Amino acid sequence: MRIELPRTSERFGANVFYGPVQVYELDSGFRGQGGAEEGAIIALPYERLHEIQRQMAVVVPVRGERIRLVEGILFAIPNQCLAIVVSNSPREPVDRFRVEQQALCTFARLARKRVVLLHQKDPLVGKAFLDAGYPELVGDDGLVRDGKAEGMLIALAVARLAGKRYLGFVDADNYSPGAAHEYICEYAAGFALAECQYAMVRILWQSKPKYVDGQVYFAKWGRTSRRTNHFLNQLISRYTGFETDIMATGNSGEHALTLELALRLDYATKYAVEPQHIISLLERFGGERESPYPDVMREGVEIFQIESRNPHFHRAGEPDHIREMTGVALRTIHGSFLCPAALRREIEDDLRLHGVLSDDDPPVEPVRRYPPLLDMDFGTFHHTVERRLQTTSVEPVRLQKKGMSRPQPPSMGRTRPVRGRPADDQGGTSPPDQ
Ligand code: GDD
Ligand code: MG
Repeated sequence: MRIELPRTSERFGANVFYGPVQVYELDSGFRGQGGAEEGAIIALPYERLHEIQRQMAVVVPVRGERIRLVEGILFAIPNQCLAIVVSNSPREPVDRFRVEQQALCTFARLARKRVVLLHQKDPLVGKAFLDAGYPELVGDDGLVRDGKAEGMLIALAVARLAGKRYLGFVDADNYSPGAAHEYICEYAAGFALAECQYAMVRILWQSKPKYVDGQVYFAKWGRTSRRTNHFLNQLISRYTGFETDIMATGNSGEHALTLELALRLDYATKYAVEPQHIISLLERFGGERESPYPDVMREGVEIFQIESRNPHFHRAGEPDHIREMTGVALRTIHGSFLCPAALRREIEDDLRLHGVLSDDDPPVEPVRRYPPLLDMDFGTFHHTVERRLQTTSVEPVRLQKKGMSRPQPPSMGRTRPVRGRPADDQGGTSPPDQ
């Protein structure tokens, strides 16, 4: 891939937010082919991207999507990646999950691809989180709560067990497998550019086509992302003292993280997860308060934004859905201890203007947040969930056992492990072997 090197950046404590970069060739060939470096643009050889993808899990969250769409995404995932599908599809009156299982098994057999498929409401998955000392994700019924972010956390735990180093997310409702494939290549390109082990790559869609006046119109900004970006940029500007437009991917559902970073961020529920990632970076590594992870403060965090070449065609959201998504996105910013009072008032005004909040509503509530997964007892999680992974995975996923803490009997009534335990104790995320 031939890609522009970031020209602009904004520092916020240990975080470096790079401005969006463009791709000049989706495939620039093998190493040494067609010239390697031309100053502002770099050719990332196919071998390098392949090596990164070999260590990457690609996660597809699904809730009741048409099976053709889900299959299309699987066709797009390079064979060298581990695919993890977390489904929250209804099981009644028709068992949609069973349909997904059958389709994925056929696909995985034909493509000789590793696919892990789990149902979000599998009681064993809920039990695994409880046993492992991560009860926040589990409702009173003992099952993992609803929501895209909740599914993503399941996938993060599985990727950690599989020893993966990188984690990329691709929504299942994408009509274009070519676009999904491009995003996964761009994730690898971002990681190839990264200089530290704490890195994030966010896709800026080239466009999101829609019908306007009977014609296809290649809109650049979504209804939610426009406002989320505005307020995230305002938040950064209030601290740096210089107005910025660096943040262009505040809602980017298509994003990827190194496992080391993914394990150290907190997650907001449902569709608030993407803006929350930015808030979490600012809060934890922004230097305004002492960071729980001094190693990250020393090494730094890099956030890349890559503009895709394919347009993004997906299932269009209804106005109520957009209102809800915008509401939770802005509430993540509003709820941060970093958000100045004046900016809070601006957000409240915006929510009223767009009908998300009425004058009679109670004060803006913060969204539900889940703490970093790093401190979970992965040994115990592994012990509980292993049986399910072996049966749902089409080819058994080799779970990482080395260095993982011993499973504790549930009767010991484990609570959350002590924070800040050395990484070795957690089993680390040592180089994968798949
Ligand atoms: N596992 C799981 N559990 N998946 C879910 C759930 C759930 O409870 N709810 C939704 N999904 C899946 C959907 O099937 C889809 O693949 C993906 O999550 C995104 O859901 P959409 O309903 O298509 O969201 P959207 O298109 O409105 O919003 C997307 O883009 C936004 C940026 O414009 C999401 O990725 C947002 O998170 C993102 O901010
Ligand atoms: Mg969608």
